Amino acid sequence: MKAGIFITGTDTEVGKTVISAGLALCLRDRGVKVGIMKPVATGCYGPEERLVSHDAAFLMEAAEGQFPPLHSPSRFRNPLSPNVAAMIEKKEVNVEKILKSFRELAGHYDYMIVEGIGGIMVPLKKDYYVANLIRDMKLPVVIVSHAGLGAINHTLLTFDAAMIRGLEVKGIIFNRVAVSNYSMVELTNPKVVHDLSGVPILGSLPEIDDLQVEGCRFGKLKEIFQERIQIDKILGESFAKSVLKS
Ligand SMILES: Nc1ncnc2c1ncn2[C@@H]1O[C@H](COP(=O)(O)OP(=O)(O)OP(=O)(O)O)[C@@H](O)[C@H]1O
Ligand SMILES: [Mg+2]
Repeated sequence: MKAGIFITGTDTEVGKTVISAGLALCLRDRGVKVGIMKPVATGCYGPEERLVSHDAAFLMEAAEGQFPPLHSPSRFRNPLSPNVAAMIEKKEVNVEKILKSFRELAGHYDYMIVEGIGGIMVPLKKDYYVANLIRDMKLPVVIVSHAGLGAINHTLLTFDAAMIRGLEVKGIIFNRVAVSNYSMVELTNPKVVHDLSGVPILGSLPEIDDLQVEGCRFGKLKEIFQERIQIDKILGESFAKSVLKS
């Protein structure tokens, strides 16, 4: 693997899967061999021995996942925090297995996109949070946030928690922003977050028609992502250049 990114968010349901898929679709379009991973997924469905994660299925479609068990190594049925789901289902979040799967996948791809679960302080097991997993994977981070009321607080809290834990934050993407009739809150929040934290704003995505993670529908996600998100800033200068050359 030449590079990769960990997509985290200020909360659950904020758009991590959509942003991860948008990036995967755009990189594939540029000819990059892109791999995805949803290392821990809760709220999965199907028979116990073949539990399916909506997120992993959507991401595998976006990136042509070729090694299903590796892309989604830790799956739970209950839509709960992973540590609680694991306790109820008498299983565990096996971090060694996750990291082994990640290393194996990384060997097959040029660029890895890893979607987190909830936010970075979600506990995966005792004394081990999503932030620990990001560090162990040695990946930089993109934070997905909403742009409405509360976004300043949620985004700065996530950014601070990332910095305290020594993570490299590439920037913030705001999701589901209004493109017309936007409120004063939506208009000013991204700038306030940038001014207070110094962290780059990588762009924002509007509400996209016919996009649905659960129904595995992409709508015009690729085209809109390409137009509105600073992809090269996510990739980093040297990787972006090598992609352009090839
Ligand atoms: N820009 C958008 N336009 C239209 N629908 C969206 C957009 N972003 C997200 N959604 C929808 O909102 C829901 C939540 O988005 P998504 O699954 O990407 O969030 P998440 O942060 O990955 O959630 P989780 O914490 O469950 O992994 C999904 O049903 C998705 O289809
Ligand atoms: Mg998701």
